[in-house]
Amino acid sequence: MTTTPGTAPVEADIERVLVSADAIARRVAELAEELGRGLATDGADDEGIVLMPVMTGSMLFVSDLVRQLPHKLRLELALVSSYPGTAQQSQGAKLTMPLPTGLEGRHIVLVDDILDSGGTIRFLQKELAKQAPASLRTIVLLRKPRPDAADVPCEHVGFEIPDEFVVGYGLDFDGLYRNLPYIGTLRPKSAG
Ligand code: IMP
Ligand code: MG
Repeated sequence: MTTTPGTAPVEADIERVLVSADAIARRVAELAEELGRGLATDGADDEGIVLMPVMTGSMLFVSDLVRQLPHKLRLELALVSSYPGTAQQSQGAKLTMPLPTGLEGRHIVLVDDILDSGGTIRFLQKELAKQAPASLRTIVLLRKPRPDAADVPCEHVGFEIPDEFVVGYGLDFDGLYRNLPYIGTLRPKSAG
């Protein structure tokens, strides 16, 4: 695994690489297999599968993940904001667009970049359950060891990471660094 960032402009503020691009690619392939087995357990028929990425952070993760899934599936977006601007603590999940409807009897897979306080996933699971889906599973690329999130059901986790603020591969600070191909930490001055 790479441990030092390179020299591209977007990398100038990165202190340390936590998960390399290669490690992400390998794990995403494994996660796709795991998820496929989970969906089979749920009795999900291809036509009924809805992958629901939580925007914007899970954009890169879901785009890599779906290309590893052989199912005939649909994509529906959840638009949520929990870290406005330069905040590094979740300010509580808010929908910025109403959730998709017509999910009764569907097999929903909620896809997010990271499970931190769990507020976002907990909120979305509760809202989606109201639509009586046939099944609801959650997949996140990263999870931080937060005791307050211990009760949040999450069937698939890519990497357990330390409780540090990270950017890259979809995750941002003030809207920046999403296009980094790896997950890293910011130099203290960049994180304000
Ligand atoms: P939670 O609601 O506290 O679990 O936070 C979940 C959301 O906050 C994720 O979907 C991310 O978009 C964002 N988030 C949490 N931790 C980080 C981080 O370390 N860096 C960037 N975004 C984060
Ligand atoms: Mg997010």
